[in-house]
Amino acid sequence: MSRRRILVTSALPYANGAIHLGHLVEYIQTDIWVRFQRMQVNDDGSPVEVHYVGADDTHGTPIMLRADAEGITPKQLIDRVWHEHKRDFDSFGVSFDNYYTTDSPENEALCADIYGKLKAADLIATRSVEQFYDPVKNMFLPDRYIKGECPKCGAKDQYGDSCEVCGATYAPTDLKNAYSTVSGAAPVRKASEHYFFKLSDRRCEEFLRGYTQGAAHLQPEAANKMKEWLGAPGEAKLSDWDISRDAPYFGFPIPGTGGKKFFYVWLDAPVGYFGSFLNYVKKQQVAGNPIDADAFLKPGSDTELVHFIGKDILYFHALFWPAMLEYAGYRTPSKVYAHGFLTVNGEKMSKSRGTFITAESYIAQGLNPEWLRYYYAAKLNSTMEDIDMNLDDFVARVNSDLVGKYVNIASRASNFLTKYFDGKVMPASASGGPTRSGTGSATIMSTEYENAIASAYEQREFGKATRLIMAYADQINQYFDENKPWELAKSDTARKQLHEVCSECIAAFYRLTIMLKPILPVLATQAEAFLGTPGLNWKDLSKRPTAITQYKHLMTRVDPKQITALTEANKESLKPAAPAPHSQQRHAQHQENAVEAATQPETISIDDFTKIDLRIARIANAEHVEGADKLLKLSLEVGDLGTKQVFAGIKAAYDPEQLKGRLTVMVANLAPRKMKFGMSEGMVLAASGDAPGLYLLSPDSGAQPGMRIK
Ligand code: MSP
Ligand code: ZN
Repeated sequence: MSRRRILVTSALPYANGAIHLGHLVEYIQTDIWVRFQRMQVNDDGSPVEVHYVGADDTHGTPIMLRADAEGITPKQLIDRVWHEHKRDFDSFGVSFDNYYTTDSPENEALCADIYGKLKAADLIATRSVEQFYDPVKNMFLPDRYIKGECPKCGAKDQYGDSCEVCGATYAPTDLKNAYSTVSGAAPVRKASEHYFFKLSDRRCEEFLRGYTQGAAHLQPEAANKMKEWLGAPGEAKLSDWDISRDAPYFGFPIPGTGGKKFFYVWLDAPVGYFGSFLNYVKKQQVAGNPIDADAFLKPGSDTELVHFIGKDILYFHALFWPAMLEYAGYRTPSKVYAHGFLTVNGEKMSKSRGTFITAESYIAQGLNPEWLRYYYAAKLNSTMEDIDMNLDDFVARVNSDLVGKYVNIASRASNFLTKYFDGKVMPASASGGPTRSGTGSATIMSTEYENAIASAYEQREFGKATRLIMAYADQINQYFDENKPWELAKSDTARKQLHEVCSECIAAFYRLTIMLKPILPVLATQAEAFLGTPGLNWKDLSKRPTAITQYKHLMTRVDPKQITALTEANKESLKPAAPAPHSQQRHAQHQENAVEAATQPETISIDDFTKIDLRIARIANAEHVEGADKLLKLSLEVGDLGTKQVFAGIKAAYDPEQLKGRLTVMVANLAPRKMKFGMSEGMVLAASGDAPGLYLLSPDSGAQPGMRIK
C-alpha cells in the first residue's frame, strides 16, 4: 500500500449559535476517526499524513440580522462566536489542526477562482428572480422572515408554507396581510437578477450520476437518496442553483458585479474547507513543515478528501460541491460520510425539557468531556440512523465500561505490582502471554482481534470497536477474578504466579489504552504516564510496558445528580416553552442558513400583546421542591380563574416564607407544562439583568387577585 495522505473535515458550524450536544456528535465522530488515523503508519513505517481542518461558517442573512439586532457589526459577532466555538472544541478534545473562518482572504480568492472557472466553462447563467423585499430594511428577505394570515382560515402569524391552525398548505405569496418579521413592514415583491450554477447542464448531471453511484464516495443509503434526487436519465430533475444574493449581504462580492451581488453563503461555505486548509499550509510552511497543497486540492493524486457531515446537508455535499469542484478544475471528495441526528431520551432536543444541552453548560456543570466522547463512540456506526442519548443509559454505560471495566483493571492489578514487585511488569512469555493469543483463560486478544478493532475504527463502526474492546476488558477482569491475586498474595510460594497474573493484567490494560486512545485522549495520556509509555501508537500493541508508576485514580464515576443538574441548567424555566421550529423554518434552515430564532421581530402588534393573559395573583403558598436546585413550588390564587400551581426558578432569590401572601403578576394562559415535579400551570414574572439578582413584580396596593393587566 502506498502512503496515505488524508485531508479530513467536519461541517462548518454557523457563527450565530452555540455548539450543543447535537453538533458534538459530528465533531467527536470526526475527531475519533482522525485520532485513529494519526496513530497509524504506512507499510514503510512512515506515519500516515492526516490534516484535520474546520472553520466557522460566517456569512449570510441570519448572521447579518443577528449582528444588527445586537447592535454590533457582523465581523464583531463572528469574532466573538469563533472564540466560543474554539473554546468548546478544545474542551471536548476536538483536535483540529486548523480552526479558521470562512470570512477569510484565502476563501475569497478560492471562491473567485472557482466562480471564474465555472463561468469560463459556461456553467453560470443569470436570470431575473422575484422575491420578497422589506421596504423598511431595504433588503430582500428569505421567505422564512415573512409571516401573515392564512389564506384559508385567516389565522394570524402563519409562515409562508402552511397554516398551523387549519393545516392548509400554500405559497408565501398567498399569505394575506403579509409582514416582515424583521421590521414589521408589509413586504413588496421585487425582481432582481440572480446568478445560477447550471446544475441542470447535461455535463453536471452525467458527472453526478457517475460520482454519486460510483467508487463508494457515499454510503449506500446516501447513494440511493441521490438516485432519487437525480431521477432517471433524461428526467432532468436537477435544477440550476441560485448562488447570488443582493446587497446588503454579509459575504463575498461576486467579481464583476460592482459590489451589488454577493455569493450565497452555501457557495462559499464548503470552499471554506479549502480556505482553512490553505491557511494551515501557510502556517506550516512558516513553521518549517511544508505540505504539498496541490496534491490535496488538485485532481490526479492519491490523496484523500474526507468530509464528515450531518444527513441534513447531504444535498450540498454530494451534489453542488462535487459538481462545482469538478468543473472548476479541483479534486472531488473521496468520501462524504453522513451521520444521523441526536435525540435525547428518544426525543428531539428540547429547551423546555432541558435537553437542548450546550457544550459550554456541560463543561460548566463539571462533567467530564471524555464521558460523552465514550458514550457517543459506543452509539456510533457508519449509517445515517439517528442516535439517541438516553441520559440514564449514559450514566450506566460510562460507569460500567470505563470505570467498572477498563480503569478497574489498572487499579486492581497495580496494587500488587507496586506492593510486591516494585512496579515491575514481567516480560511476555513466548506465546505472548495468557492474555494475548494461545493459552490461558483470557485468550481473545490476538492480531486478528486487534485488526478487527482497527477496521471497525476505519469504517466508522465505533460502536462495534467499543464492544470488541470491552469484551476484552471483561475477559481480563474475569482472568483476574479466577486467579484470585488476593489469595495468591497470602503465600510466599505463589509469588511468581501473582506477578504473572498482575503483569498480564497490566499488559492488557496497556493494550486497552492503545485501543481506546482515539476516543479518550486525556485518559489515555494519564494511563501512558502510569505505564511509563508515552505517545502510544497502534503498532505498539505488539509491545508491553516494563514497569508502572504509583497508580493514581484515573476516572471518577458519573453521579446521576450531575445529569439532573445539567438538564436543570439547560431548562428555560422562567420562559415559556420554545415552540418547535415551524416546518417552514426547518426546511428553509439550510436554504437560508437560518439558526432557530436568529432574529426577533422588532415590534409586535397590540393583538400579539393581548394574547398574553396577565393576571394579578396572590401567592397562597410557596415551598421548596425536593430535588430541585432552582425551583419553588407556588400556589397562586387568581380570582375567578381559581388556584394555579406554578414552578418558578426563583429559589436563589426568595425564601418561601417571605412570599406567602404577597401579590405578583402571572401569565395565566401559558400552556401547562409537565415538569419532573408536577404540572406547571403558568409563570410568574420577575426582572433580572446581567448581575445576579431576581426581582418578582408586584402591583400597587389595591390590585386584587384575578385582575387583568392590560
Ligand atoms: N453551516 C452549515 C454547514 C456548512 S459545511 C460547509 C451547518 N451548520 S450547523 O451549525 O447547522 O451544523 C453543523 C453540523 O452539525 C452539521 O453537519 C449538522 O448536521 C450537525 N448537527 C447539527 N445539529 C445536530 C444534531 N442535533 N445531531 C447531529 N448532528 C447535528 O449545517
Ligand atoms: Zn389556516
